[in-house]
Amino acid sequence: MANPKRPPFGGFYHPASNDEDAELTHVGPGTPGGNYLRRFWHPIALVSELKDMPMPIRVLGEDLILFRTKSGKLGLVLRACSHRGTSLEYGIISEEGIRCAYHGWHYGVDGNVLETPSEPPGSRLRESLCHGAYRTHEHAGLIFTYMGPPEETPDFPIYDTLVWPEPNRLVPYKLDMPCNWLQVHENAADPIHTAYLHSIVTGVQFTPAFSALPVLEFIETPLGLLSVATRRCGENIWVRASDAILPNVAQFGTGFVDGEREKFALCAAFTRWIVPRDNTHCWVIGVRHLNRVIDPYDQSKPDEIGLGKIDLMGQTDERPYRDRQKSPGDWDAMVAQGPIAIRKNEHLSSTDIGIAQMRRQIRNGIRAVASGATPSQPKRYNKGIVPTYNNEIVLKVPAGSGDDAAILRAFGRKVCDLVIGSESVEVGTRQKQIEQSVRSLQTSEAFAPSAKKEALVDG
Ligand code: FES
Ligand SMILES: [Fe+2]
Repeated sequence: MANPKRPPFGGFYHPASNDEDAELTHVGPGTPGGNYLRRFWHPIALVSELKDMPMPIRVLGEDLILFRTKSGKLGLVLRACSHRGTSLEYGIISEEGIRCAYHGWHYGVDGNVLETPSEPPGSRLRESLCHGAYRTHEHAGLIFTYMGPPEETPDFPIYDTLVWPEPNRLVPYKLDMPCNWLQVHENAADPIHTAYLHSIVTGVQFTPAFSALPVLEFIETPLGLLSVATRRCGENIWVRASDAILPNVAQFGTGFVDGEREKFALCAAFTRWIVPRDNTHCWVIGVRHLNRVIDPYDQSKPDEIGLGKIDLMGQTDERPYRDRQKSPGDWDAMVAQGPIAIRKNEHLSSTDIGIAQMRRQIRNGIRAVASGATPSQPKRYNKGIVPTYNNEIVLKVPAGSGDDAAILRAFGRKVCDLVIGSESVEVGTRQKQIEQSVRSLQTSEAFAPSAKKEALVDG
């Protein structure tokens, strides 16, 4: 029966909120969300992007200049010169800093004023002020910054996937998204869309295996959330578990799984951050992992990964509009939610448990920082490395006569429990150890009752 408040042809009665949920979505200086995000390291550029000129960038609603001194140090300073505000994008890079073109004030990478050449000799003006600057760090072909209180700078987190044993190649990439960061990040907690957006509704975008509807599980981890999509592919079970790491990091498997060939990968194809430039623009910035564990059939395309490009269909707006209407990709679905998705206009459904969990975790973090707490930082194990949980696994576990959805759910859950429980194992041996444990499930009573029975008879 139609809702009397929402009758057919009743668009007239549909309320449309414009509440942006500022606590969760606004990122500028002094906002609760901005203060929270500023307590973490974020990538802001590819190392390869930064040439010998100052590079203007906008991050978390602040206009900044990134540069590399002639002696090789990275600098990230406020764009407006502390003297009379001209942009340091026209600054001249020196051996140890950057010199404003207008009157020659010279800044070090930490913001100290090294010289004020237009002042009389003996002037102590330069000692009385410090230009705004932020710490930087290079890792995995990316330039990171920390924009929070300097006395609270956390250790830089080194995720295990980024130091995966050789041979592994990390290829950095960076994409622009003209919308709020959160709706892009939320995609990491929305695995059901991989069936609909990437196959059932729009035609096969990755592989036909994505069209099998997955059973979903959302598991809280020490880092955030693991979104687990477990599918039946003939006699195989395919587990695709994606890490969402607080506040804005995510990892994913490939778009290559065919569901027919066995695969065991306790690693990721993508590690990416969603970095807000301001309230209505963000970057997807991270690395693609190229190795034979995550991509056993060498289907990655390194030439299609980099600045403004990634080797996965639908992640940018480069296709003609008509093509994007016929088969929209992730970029279209997320940007089309509006400059800032209005969550009060949504109607969350049973597949959105992960979305709600992710929002709750982020909001809790925002409120904790607002109340004076220091956000907890990831736990480190061997050699200071942060273990992560992303996995992509295809194993032969034929369906029995019972409830297959329950089997899929239990299998996905068990695999992820084993992965999470192994976090203290050294990165080089963890994959092998977990593979052994997971393979033992193939013959366990819980997942292969008939196999177990035959084995008992044979024995
Ligand atoms: S405005 Fe930069 S030195 Fe005067
Ligand atoms: Fe997607």
